[in-house]
Formats: sequence, C-alpha cells, structure tokens
Amino acid sequence: MGPFLPLLLFALALGASHASSPAEDYWHKVLPNTPMPSAVTDLLLHAVVADEKSGTAANVGKGGVNVTGKDTSVSVGYHGRPVNVNVNPYYSGPFLYNYAATKSQIQDPSVTLFFLEEDLHPGAKMTLHFIRTTIGATLLPRRAADSIPFSSAKLPAILSRLSIAPNSIEAKVMNKTLHECEEPAIDGETKYCATSVESMVDFSTSSLGTRNVRALSTAVGREGTPKQVYAISDVQELPSSKLVVCHGENYAYAVFYCHTTSAVAYKVSLVGKDGTKVEAVATCHTNTTGFNPEHVAFKVLDVKPGTVPVCHFLPQNDIVWSRNK
Ligand SMILES: *[C@@H]1O[C@H](CO)[C@@H](O)[C@H](O)[C@H]1NC(C)=O
Ligand SMILES: *[C@@H]1O[C@H](CO)[C@@H](O)[C@H](O)[C@H]1NC(C)=O
Ligand SMILES: *[C@@H]1O[C@H](CO)[C@@H](O)[C@H](O)[C@H]1NC(C)=O
Repeated sequence: MGPFLPLLLFALALGASHASSPAEDYWHKVLPNTPMPSAVTDLLLHAVVADEKSGTAANVGKGGVNVTGKDTSVSVGYHGRPVNVNVNPYYSGPFLYNYAATKSQIQDPSVTLFFLEEDLHPGAKMTLHFIRTTIGATLLPRRAADSIPFSSAKLPAILSRLSIAPNSIEAKVMNKTLHECEEPAIDGETKYCATSVESMVDFSTSSLGTRNVRALSTAVGREGTPKQVYAISDVQELPSSKLVVCHGENYAYAVFYCHTTSAVAYKVSLVGKDGTKVEAVATCHTNTTGFNPEHVAFKVLDVKPGTVPVCHFLPQNDIVWSRNK
C-alpha cells in the first residue's frame, strides 16, 4: 500500500475540491433514482476532470502523463507514470470463469473464495479477506478514454502514449486485461469492457433498461481489514431475473469487464470478529456448464461443472447491476 499513499492523499485533496465529474453528471442524468455504489464513488475521488472548452488539463498531477484527445487534454498517472496498475492476489481473475485455476489463486486454502448456496444463511461463518482488486485507478471521462486505443494489437502504441515501459509488469497486466476483454463471451452471455463509467452505464442499461435499476458493490466498514472470520447476519436475494456484473480490471485507468449473466445475486450483511461491518454482494452461478472445467471454483469446492450453483463474494471494485421487478 505504501507507494499508493501519496496518490491517495493527492486524489482525496482533489476529491474535496473538484466539481462534479462527467461520470457523475452522466450517472445522475441517466439513472436519477439509482444511488451510486461505493465502487463508483471511490473512483470519483480519482476522476480526471477535463476542461473541454479551453482544452487545458484540469486535476493534473505534476508531471503526469498527458493524454491528448481532440480538444481534451487530461492526465493519467502521477509523477510521470500511471502508478495504479495493481498486481494482487486476484491478478489472475478467479471470477472470470473461462480461466483455469492458477497456483496463486489456491495458495491460501483457509480463505473462502467460493462456497455453496446452502452455506449462505444467517449464522453461517466464513473466513474472508476483503481486498480491493484495483486501488485508486484513475477514472477518465469517456471522451478522453475513447481517444486512447484499447486493443491488444495496439499495445505498443498504448504503452508509448502512456509512457509505460514495454517490458514492465504494468505492461504485462495491461496486456492481460486487453486479452481478457477480447475473448468471446461464453454462450448465452454478452460482454463488454467499459473504459469509463459512462460506457458502463450504457452497457448495463442496454440490458436492464433505466427504470428500477440497482447498482451494488461490496462495502467494507473500514480500510485494511485483516483476513478473519465473519458471521453472516442477513441475506437478501436481489429480485432480478437478469444481472450485469462488472469486474474492476487492472489497467492504467479504470476499466470494467462487464457481462450479462444468469447468476443470482444476494445482498449479505456480515460482521467480522474485530467488529468490522460489511455489506457485501454475493453471486451464485446457477449454470456453470460453460465454465472452464479447471476453474478454481471446482477445485476448491470439489464439484463438477454444471452440477450445483457456485457462489462467491464480489471484491470491492466490482458492481452488480440488477432490476427490481
Ligand atoms: C500536460 O498538459 C498541461 C496542459 O497543456 C501542461 O501544463 C503540462 O505541462 C503537461 N504535462 C506533461 C507531462 O507533458
Ligand atoms: C500478451 O498476452 C498474450 C496472451 O496472454 C501473449 O500471447 C503475448 O505474448 C503478450 N504480449 C506481450 C507483449 O506481453
Ligand atoms: C447453460 O450454459 C450453457 C453453456 O454456456 C448453455 O449452452 C446452456 O444453454 C445454459 N443452460 C441454461 C438452462 O441456461
């Protein structure tokens, strides 16, 4: 966390002073009755607000990397590099189910990564470690994001534009995200990688409409909670036959890997052993036929694809979109 602190302080200072960002304005326009989930409000603290009229960069960190669009000039990164391409335990995307398990995903078997639906009830206890998969990713306005190529074929140009060394770990992480985004959706789903909140809103509302839409993310009562035992105090199913799940991806700026899914979602209240309260979102995948048979969920639960629903809590950067019936 150390290296992120200067950026966080910098971003908090901006958050306190800046006017609403294009992302916030767009959200309120399209979804006036849908509260923003914490995964989005957290990102607004790192929003780049471009002054499109004058073409000058606003909210630019000193020495930041300029991304110049048609008449937008915004800065990603801080002190010359996009610092927030995170490398973390979820690096290999355990909640993207076309992937086989990797060693790093299963190396701490004491943490409940996946569980069965029957284990989701008040009174149940689970050892969990809530972490952010992306910390303080820079949020770009749609206009700026759309001016940057987003394709693995253009990786060299993207890296050069953002001043990222081609052989760096950041470059590898970005390459991986681009490849995940380019893979075809599994049968019966549609997917889309959104590079701005505005385009995530468009994708989600194109499946769910704009009326009675809910967007939820896991909210943890305090930062830096340890791995610990949590007791479930309440479980509520989201009454929606259709869901869109958007996973926060690791990239040089905020990117959401969104897909429609036939999963069932639950709002779950938990209390940690240290008293931390968590309002979590869990999803249970009812149809696992199309999952990679080597997926980590089947390894840790010892079940076969297409048999029982497999469930997991969403990390704090993910968003579940549903529609009240
Ligand atoms: C980015 O653009 C702004 C406004 O044009 C300028 O003041 C700043 O020096 C530029 N920063 C870099 C690193 O090029
Ligand atoms: C990007 O990732 C793909 C797929 O994982 C890999 O085949 C390719 O070599 C990578 N390219 C770079 C430049 O790292
Ligand atoms: C379950 O998933 C498979 C593979 O994605 C798909 O072909 C099948 O139609 C799905 N079944 C139902 C009942 O949705």
